[in-house]
Amino acid sequence: MSETESPAPGQNHIFGVDVGGSGVKGGIVDLDTGQLVGDRYKLLTPQPSTPDAVAATIAEVVRHFEWTGPLGVTYPGVVVNGVVQTAANVDKSWIGTDAAEVISKALGGQHVTVLNDADAAGLAEQRHGAGRNRNGVVVLLTFGTGIGSAVIHDGQLLPNTEFGHLEVDGKEAEHRAASSVKERKDWSYERWSEEVTKVLVSIENLLWPDLFIAGGGISRKADKWIPLLKNRTPVVAAELLNEAGIVGAAMAAHADVTR
Ligand code: BGC
Repeated sequence: MSETESPAPGQNHIFGVDVGGSGVKGGIVDLDTGQLVGDRYKLLTPQPSTPDAVAATIAEVVRHFEWTGPLGVTYPGVVVNGVVQTAANVDKSWIGTDAAEVISKALGGQHVTVLNDADAAGLAEQRHGAGRNRNGVVVLLTFGTGIGSAVIHDGQLLPNTEFGHLEVDGKEAEHRAASSVKERKDWSYERWSEEVTKVLVSIENLLWPDLFIAGGGISRKADKWIPLLKNRTPVVAAELLNEAGIVGAAMAAHADVTR
């Protein structure tokens, strides 16, 4: 561990972990700046991705930094009061698991806050990224294997929105417009952006947000597709990219916003 990775006493640092279908990554977050203190560390998500196996991997990531304080962890599904309710892209045995308890146990009792992955990214982007200084209703969507969503009103998260599962023209939004669909069907940005537009229009007709933030890996290429969208609400690209989940998890651990 390098000098810069160890938190100085009294500073506003918390550990964040982002759990995805393919990787578990973590780092120490400076809550004042929304930036990582030092590097992030990533391990592959174990397969099968059962609660015990993933908890052991999270513990390995945390121990890499010799972190002994509280931490926040993201999960790619609905989490209510620490208990997992859905498992679209991880092992089904997560459903009904008290994720906070299982992860805390693997760490010998450290305090753990668990929240939905897109909610974490939304918190981070709203405070420190593309949504900073923007009031009103901000909706972040992550385009990846599925579509994750976060709704934030004047800095306050409405947890566990699942717009990826909203039915749009007879088809779930994430089956229509996740970036995995673009890859699988080998679509151009033009073709894919038509589907993204349909999803955005459905959401904006229900919620009338002030801003959409587009996240997920494909937001790195935002200049290729955001200009093609035809919905009415402004859409901006996420800024924190790889780190949004880690930063938002740490923010949630600091001031529990998950209920
Ligand atoms: C899940 C969401 C999650 C999103 C991104 C969806 O399939 O239902 O909870 O945020 O994938 O991982």
